[in-house]
Amino acid sequence: MTASDKTKSANKNTITIINNKNNQRHELDILSGTVGPDVIDVRKLYHDLNLFTYDPGYTSTASCDSAITYIDGEKGILMHRGYLIEELASESDFMDVSYMLLFGELPNARQQKRFNTEIKMQSLVDEQLMRFYNGFRRDAHPMAIMVGVVGALSAFYHDSLDISDPKQRHLATIRLIAKMPTIAAMAYKYAIGQPFVYPDNSLSYTGNFLKMMFSVPAEDYIPNPVLERAIDCLFVLHADHEQNASTSTVRLAGSSQANPFACIAAGIASLWGPAHGGANEAVLNMLKVIGDKERIPEFIAKAKDRNDPFRLMGFGHRVYKNYDPRAKVLKESAHAVLKELGVEDQPLFELALELERIALEDEYFIKKKLFPNVDFYSGIILQAMGFPSSMFTVMFAIPRTAGWLSQWHEMLGESVQKIGRPRQRYTGKDHRKFVPKDKRV
Ligand code: SDX
Repeated sequence: MTASDKTKSANKNTITIINNKNNQRHELDILSGTVGPDVIDVRKLYHDLNLFTYDPGYTSTASCDSAITYIDGEKGILMHRGYLIEELASESDFMDVSYMLLFGELPNARQQKRFNTEIKMQSLVDEQLMRFYNGFRRDAHPMAIMVGVVGALSAFYHDSLDISDPKQRHLATIRLIAKMPTIAAMAYKYAIGQPFVYPDNSLSYTGNFLKMMFSVPAEDYIPNPVLERAIDCLFVLHADHEQNASTSTVRLAGSSQANPFACIAAGIASLWGPAHGGANEAVLNMLKVIGDKERIPEFIAKAKDRNDPFRLMGFGHRVYKNYDPRAKVLKESAHAVLKELGVEDQPLFELALELERIALEDEYFIKKKLFPNVDFYSGIILQAMGFPSSMFTVMFAIPRTAGWLSQWHEMLGESVQKIGRPRQRYTGKDHRKFVPKDKRV
């Protein structure tokens, strides 16, 4: 089947496909968004032509309409609600960006105060939930705890499960954004055998998180403002990213009308993979294995070897074929954090900088347009701040919860609600007779 040139009919843009098998011609509408590639509307393809489109991994498939985030991968541009990520990272803060992702506009002073207060009022978790942690081994991966505990929130907050009720949808949203830092810090405290630290609503969202993570009852704790700002910036950079694997997971779970806590738990599970949000932890593990600048060529060669499963973690991206703008901001932030902590000579940071320099000069990475992504530098910053690498993906899940929920709301707000149900190209056996046990070889 060949696609002929786009034909413009009187009042709309269409593309005509011709099936060479039966010379069948069919016109499909081409739809435009605000900016970015047009889309071919194939919604009626199966009904009209008994044909499926075929796109494993969804490399060329728009799964939805969305007004939240726009990425131009070729140019390395990322916008949320029309604002460039670089401006949001330097001028805004995570609470304001969360509000904007959810409601479409940056909040005014009244809206900001109300939203921040709503979040603070929900920062505690049910005391009963604390016992949940005792069911885990102390060496459980914190992401395993996050998947379990966040999913279990639906067993506690029965007044915010009904997705048809806008008030309950809003309450669940506030609860999830508010409780993710508390649940995450509890997972860390549980792992190191220290007592859980209750939220402190006198602090900012990130200041409170740092206190729940690193304070102990025996000592006073005041968050370092430079680190507080660095974490807030890291949260802004991780808040949303179009229809990535975990966001698509949340949308698909939400399309079955699962409750919001179950949907976010599904997103956390998907984010955990090292090809996705788990890459920040994998980058640090990779840098530790490389160990020395002398060994970089050995690992670059492994990354280029098609027979070697090794990949340069923190490099490459399905959409960015240019430098991930978030990685640029994190690289600068790393310098500031390491300077503030007086660890400028952080060997892993030096190793990462050298690895990036060598890779970006290598023909393989240039030809395949493999650049550092958001995960390449984030771990360096987090480790310097004292976060264990097992907490890095948790630090991705906390801010991404605001993005997942904004996409979940957008999906539920669509005029036509349809459960997501992809089809397949079947390559298995055709019908065959059953073979009784005594006839099998
Ligand atoms: C995130 O989607 C998002 O928006 C995700 C995210 C978000 O904010 O939600 O941005 C967060 O997940 C960032 C990505 C984190 N993952 C990693 O850093 C893991 C390492 N990177 C890769 O595994 C890979 O680049 C992916 C998974 C990120 C993207 O893979 P694609 O788009 O499916 O590309 P591909 O696997 O088809 O690779 C294309 C080619 C292949 O070579 P050929 O088969 O064409 O010869 O590039 C090669 C790959 O082998 N390649 C790499 C590589 N990444 C791709 N080779 C070496 N090292 C790498 N890192």
